[in-house]
Amino acid sequence: MKAVRVHQYGGLEALKYEEVAVPDPGEGEARVKIEAAGVNFIDIYHRIGRYQGSLPLTLGQEAAGVVDAVGPNVTEVKPGDRVAFASVQGSYAEYAIAPVWRLVPIPAGVDAQNAAAAMIQGMTAHYLAVSAYPLKAGDTALVHAAGGGTGQLLVQVAKRRGARVIGTVSTEEKAALARQAGADEVINYAQTEFDVEVKRLTNNVGVDVVYDSVGKDTFDKSLNCLRRRGYMVLYGASSGAVPPMDPQVLNAKGSIYMTRPFLAHYTADRTELLGRVNDVFNWIAAGELKVRIDKTFPLAESAEAHRYLEGRQSKGKILLIP
Ligand SMILES: NC(=O)c1ccc[n+]([C@@H]2O[C@H](COP(=O)([O-])OP(=O)(O)OC[C@H]3O[C@@H](n4cnc5c(N)ncnc54)[C@H](OP(=O)(O)O)[C@@H]3O)[C@@H](O)[C@H]2O)c1
Repeated sequence: MKAVRVHQYGGLEALKYEEVAVPDPGEGEARVKIEAAGVNFIDIYHRIGRYQGSLPLTLGQEAAGVVDAVGPNVTEVKPGDRVAFASVQGSYAEYAIAPVWRLVPIPAGVDAQNAAAAMIQGMTAHYLAVSAYPLKAGDTALVHAAGGGTGQLLVQVAKRRGARVIGTVSTEEKAALARQAGADEVINYAQTEFDVEVKRLTNNVGVDVVYDSVGKDTFDKSLNCLRRRGYMVLYGASSGAVPPMDPQVLNAKGSIYMTRPFLAHYTADRTELLGRVNDVFNWIAAGELKVRIDKTFPLAESAEAHRYLEGRQSKGKILLIP
């Protein structure tokens, strides 16, 4: 089968599209024939070595497809089942092995591309708005990169929980997508000091929560946007990592709270995983949550997909098709 592997950390040239043996599932595992694999920032971090493991590494942590074989004594799934998974390594390939507890059934009414697209970004939007800081009616949330893949979904989930949403974007095209997702206010943070604008839009009170996936470029100003005892939810670093911080800053900014959450810790067991993903799939099937697939690339062109995401182009989900 074909797979995209990294033998040495590096730039786009580190992505090797090559022939490897089709893997066999072991105890508690199934093999999935992949129809669509998601491209995520974490794959870039694995490519460049920000997150290190053993090499060679097959990239990718998210996909949807059909079960093609199961390991000994597996009864939870069978060949032919339509499934999706996240937080399992090795999805930039024609086949992947996954622990069966991580496989979720795809309901009728959701196709493989939408299922793959919804796993990481959809469940992230869910855990951020429902669990990391559980939004309630009357809250105001600031969502950075609101025209990006996670951003558009987070805006929609925040709105369905009754929050007022202020989104930030860097282009007019992304502003239109953020508004379409339901953002009440959109700030172009490439042109405007967003913290000043957020204070103005909230009569100087500040927002209840900031969901920040941008990191280095937005972090300090994000803290300025919070109300007294507000919540800073730093969940990504698309512009680079935030430097170490003095806890005294939390006091100075108004006894604020801060968390740096991670999807795998909010889908830690089968019950929690199914609870989140079933909400997301049901909302999609009912037409209440719109997943925007921005670009699909053939698996052989994973470098182009990484270039697109790193180049700040993404306006929704990016998929690889084997
Ligand atoms: N902790 C978790 O559980 C979790 C889960 C999912 C994702 N994440 C993290 O969240 C971050 C965003 O991932 P995503 O899936 O949300 O992608 P995404 O929504 O498509 O975000 C990409 C957007 O980030 C913005 N951005 C700002 N500065 C950027 C830069 N220097 N380079 C590239 N993009 C930049 C861009 O929007 P503008 O042009 O409008 O600024 C871009 O469209 C990543 O760091 C990822 O690892 C974390």
